[in-house]
Amino acid sequence: IGDQLALTPAMGWNSWNCWGLSVNEDKVKESAQALIDKGLVDHGWTYINIDDGWEAANRNADGTISPNEKFPDIKSLSDWLHSQGLKFGIYSSPGTRTCGGFLGSYKHEMQDATTYTNWGVDYLKYDWCSYDSVYKAEGDTSLAAFKKPYEVMRNALRQQNRDIYYSLCQYGWRDVWKWGAEVEGNSWRTTGDIEDNWESLKAIWSRQTPLYPYAGPGHWNDPDMLIVGKVGWGDQLHQTGLTADEQYTHISLWCLLSAPLLIGCDISKMDKFTVSLLTNDEVLALDQDIAGNQAQQKINGKDYQVWVKKLSDGKHAIGIFNLLDNKKELSINWDDLGLSKTEHVRDLWRQKDLGKFKNKFDVNVDPHGVSLIKVF
Ligand code: GLA
Repeated sequence: IGDQLALTPAMGWNSWNCWGLSVNEDKVKESAQALIDKGLVDHGWTYINIDDGWEAANRNADGTISPNEKFPDIKSLSDWLHSQGLKFGIYSSPGTRTCGGFLGSYKHEMQDATTYTNWGVDYLKYDWCSYDSVYKAEGDTSLAAFKKPYEVMRNALRQQNRDIYYSLCQYGWRDVWKWGAEVEGNSWRTTGDIEDNWESLKAIWSRQTPLYPYAGPGHWNDPDMLIVGKVGWGDQLHQTGLTADEQYTHISLWCLLSAPLLIGCDISKMDKFTVSLLTNDEVLALDQDIAGNQAQQKINGKDYQVWVKKLSDGKHAIGIFNLLDNKKELSINWDDLGLSKTEHVRDLWRQKDLGKFKNKFDVNVDPHGVSLIKVF
């Protein structure tokens, strides 16, 4: 919790967008092993996070929580992850039940935080589900009542002798970005759940424009997880419904937004394209830039958008997004973006210098695709 953790956005994997509630220990281990074998660890991918579905049906007699039969030994799973240099994340909700109907932490917050510490947990995703009824029953709809469950868990985490990343999964309700950092959240969800289609991506995207003032080292806006590769929310996985260009847009945008990057697919089944999407260091460097400036939308056209992110070295990263269903030549004037008269341009996906451009930059962008450049 708090601003001493996650000085750059978290990078890792979460089980939800591939395995949903059918996650189990073997699948988590397989993903972690694949993260190592495919070399993703060398590009900063670190967290292995179990989402909903790990919890036993009932609490123990002393009120503590245990995993269900799908996670026979969570402590040794965590020890194994740590021995591989990885970090371990888990999920809960402040209500009596999680969104998947499993046990939530309501009235057991301190006990659960202590259990997580004993297990070596490094990351807690804390949802909202079923707290709705608690809060409605209390008859208080003030903002303070809404923040309360996050403060209760924050207080429990504060007392742990362990650094635990605190992820608020709260769908952007009650402008959580305005108080997420106050309750020591390291990130907070800005919208509902992402799905693997262009419409869902655009809907989330359209909510991000005003949020840049709230992001910074230690506390980030979270537009939800990455839906590249083989996804599925259960046993049946399918190739993401995003085209290759839409996936470039997805990753470029998340990096410009300084978003937590949590891979939502089966890593062991990643093809070469997906691996290349997630291992381009020049692109990932935008997300991990230490200044932590979330990109700002500078042009919001019907056909295209331009987002600009100021980097710690004084240079700028620019995403030029083509919203059309056809390829299009887009032209941007440096002047409109407040840049110098002449700018040197580097294409980040291709890792290639394009030369100097006076006054403007013209580029052909694929349908729903992006030109991601760094200028200086
Ligand atoms: C909510 C969250 C998802 C996932 C599920 C688990 O829908 O937004 O990311 O954690 O709960 O049940």
